[in-house]
Amino acid sequence: MRTLILLIFINLSLFSASAKKDVPLVTNEVYSNECGSCHFAYFPGLLPENSWKKLMAELENHFGDDATVDEQTFQTLTKFLNENSAEKNMNYKRSRKIVQSIPKDEVYIAISKTPYIHKKHKKIKKHLITQKEVKGLFNCTACHQSTKKAIFNDDDVDIPNYGKWED
Ligand code: HEC
Ligand code: HEC
Repeated sequence: MRTLILLIFINLSLFSASAKKDVPLVTNEVYSNECGSCHFAYFPGLLPENSWKKLMAELENHFGDDATVDEQTFQTLTKFLNENSAEKNMNYKRSRKIVQSIPKDEVYIAISKTPYIHKKHKKIKKHLITQKEVKGLFNCTACHQSTKKAIFNDDDVDIPNYGKWED
């Protein structure tokens, strides 16, 4: 009996290890409100700290939009982003791969432009990315059905006007 319980336990832990998220699933109410109104609130683990620093320093011209916030909110957001950034989560597969793909002297503020994420989407036909239901690669939630769970596996991709992705 004891062996059986032990076996079940081992199985469960193996399962949870394989189900580990791609990037840490962290949320913050202020962050969700401020940075989740125009697009989904990107997980901090999708970019390294120096990327978030640069992005936060340029909020008055944020990809052509004004995304400025008051000083207190700015401090809260910066702290949340920095504490959970990709290079602090190298045990998470996607965080690690994103960090490792960025050359030392480059700072990307677009997740979709980092070499790892860019390369992962090379096989998708351009018109499927630019179509109005998606708009651009920045719109992860349009195709990745499990984005909210911090899962970006290609098994969970469903592209509008195309359907499930079969590799
Ligand atoms: C007023 C609307 C608006 C707000 C508020 C906003 N963003 Fe954005 N964000 C945009 C637009 C527009 C883009 C560019 C999308 C595109 O590529 O066309 C963008 C792109 C991004 C990208 C790059 C996505 C990619 O991989 O290409 C990141 C990262 C990002 N925003 C983070 C943030 C953070 C962090 C905040 C909160 C401080 C924030 N945004 C608030 C409008 C907004
Ligand atoms: C147009 C739909 C679309 C959008 C938008 C999109 N993806 Fe993807 N993504 C895909 C497809 C399709 C694949 C699988 C490609 C392949 O296998 O060649 C993929 C693969 C990936 C992978 C690798 C998964 C694996 O199992 O190897 C990651 C990580 C990823 N996407 C993250 C993102 C992030 C982060 C965003 C937003 C910044 C994003 N994607 C936006 C369609 C999309």
